[in-house]
Amino acid sequence: MKSLALALAAAVLPFAGRAQSTAHTPTWTDGIACIVYSHCTNCHNPGGIAPFSLLTYNDAFQNRQSIGASVAAFSMPPFPPTEQPKKFAHANTLTAHERAELIDWVSNFAPLGDANAIPPIPSISSGPGLSQPDVQRRVPNYTVNTTQDLYRVFVLPLNNLTDKYIQSIEVVPSNRSIVHHALIFQDTSALPLQLDANDPGPGYTAFGGTGSSTSTLITGYVPGQGVFEFPSGFGSKVLANSNLLVQIHYPGYVSNQVDSTEIRIKYANGTVRNVTTSPVLNHIQNLVNGPLVIPANQVKTFKAVRTVPMNLTLTALMPHMHLLGKSFKAGLVHNGDSTQLVNIPEWDFHWQGFYTYKSPIFLPQGSSVWAEVTYDNTTANWNNPHSPPQTVTAGEGTGDEMLLLYMNLSAYFPGDTLLNFDPSLHWEHDSASCVNYQIVTLELNSTSADVRWSPPEQRLYSGERGEFVLSDALGRVVSDGIWTEPSLYVPGLNPGVYLVRWSHRTARFVVTH
Ligand code: HEC
Repeated sequence: MKSLALALAAAVLPFAGRAQSTAHTPTWTDGIACIVYSHCTNCHNPGGIAPFSLLTYNDAFQNRQSIGASVAAFSMPPFPPTEQPKKFAHANTLTAHERAELIDWVSNFAPLGDANAIPPIPSISSGPGLSQPDVQRRVPNYTVNTTQDLYRVFVLPLNNLTDKYIQSIEVVPSNRSIVHHALIFQDTSALPLQLDANDPGPGYTAFGGTGSSTSTLITGYVPGQGVFEFPSGFGSKVLANSNLLVQIHYPGYVSNQVDSTEIRIKYANGTVRNVTTSPVLNHIQNLVNGPLVIPANQVKTFKAVRTVPMNLTLTALMPHMHLLGKSFKAGLVHNGDSTQLVNIPEWDFHWQGFYTYKSPIFLPQGSSVWAEVTYDNTTANWNNPHSPPQTVTAGEGTGDEMLLLYMNLSAYFPGDTLLNFDPSLHWEHDSASCVNYQIVTLELNSTSADVRWSPPEQRLYSGERGEFVLSDALGRVVSDGIWTEPSLYVPGLNPGVYLVRWSHRTARFVVTH
């Protein structure tokens, strides 16, 4: 196979240059706007985290050179894990075709195309997506004044009298341009409140974690993410009387900007399968060549291994290290067979997150999970916190290092690997209108019935609104409107057969060619 592929590549090479290119010249109207709205404008919008907006043709035209360069270099959209094969649900990555279209468009002087058929600009609002949360907590107004990256932990009491399962969670910054990412933990100890009381102003400063050893991670947030849902049938258990700890990263060189981030949570109804989030591999217990000491002026690789103690189902993972991080690879070995779990060839501390698998991975009892992690403690590493480089050891500070592989795990049930959390299975893409849609038949047998619908594993960007049209068997529109979260309530329909067309604009996952 390999030699055939090489022979084919060699045959195509004389025509290189256009080998990756597309049959027609893409224009903003025909193709490019849709790619940008699907992959970029959730961050590149006025008030978003990105330094400029890409909502209009003019915006994109002005930035065309750097757009071409950044997509060619795979630095935009930011999604650090390699995606071969595509294994993560909700991954914001360009297909090879989309990347080629963008590059082609730039090298053809970025034409507009038919000015009368430009796809409409998506409406972006900074408002929440989760409309009826069970829990809504807001960090008090916090004024950010910093020349360096700032990691601030805010303590928000949940006041839950019993244990609960989190189904969905949404982080809504009030000042989106300064919230670079956030980690959300739960904790039942009093220590975080103490740390908060000892530090003037709302919250307290803590770099790598929360400063409390009893806190456990629930999930992470990166800009543009919108509502984070645990896969259907799974949830994250929060113990009674927990505090939420929200660690927010505000980037350096922010002066006098106020943020008041809100957390919105929806609990699962009844009992779901508990997903625990823990640092399954860590530098304290699992290093083969520890301890984690990275001498000055050296590039050093560490390996961590751990035997899986019982049959487990892995739904998502998040690698974590600090500023000396260079690359992070992890895998599973079972009976001599190895599976890659994640591969981040260019670690970027500022773009770390949870990656949910399209299909869960079975970790059999007795198999082993491993990580191979490289740190660059030389001056070649622009992010090196020490100048000149100093020997770095394990710890939570900016100048320390860590090696953690968080995993979302549940007890294994046979058939788990057949579950599929890939939303693109369920949506059609209409590239002319840049809309993803799904048509569902509804059969109502009683008059009093209400319509509830859940699109499988669907997530919208924060501020995005989807649309629905409900029509009867004769095609007459009975109801239409917007939906912001994966359920809808349409009361009082007569019995009969209906069709519902659900659609949404900006879906990073649906563009198939
Ligand atoms: C998750 C948010 C996010 C998404 C999605 C995103 N960007 Fe960016 N973009 C940023 C941020 C933030 C920066 C500023 C540099 C940084 O922090 O990495 C940036 C910087 C850029 C730059 C400046 C040059 C550079 O590489 O820093 C270009 C060009 C760019 N983005 C284009 C795009 C395009 C084109 C897309 C879609 C195909 C896209 N971005 C998707 C957040 C995003």
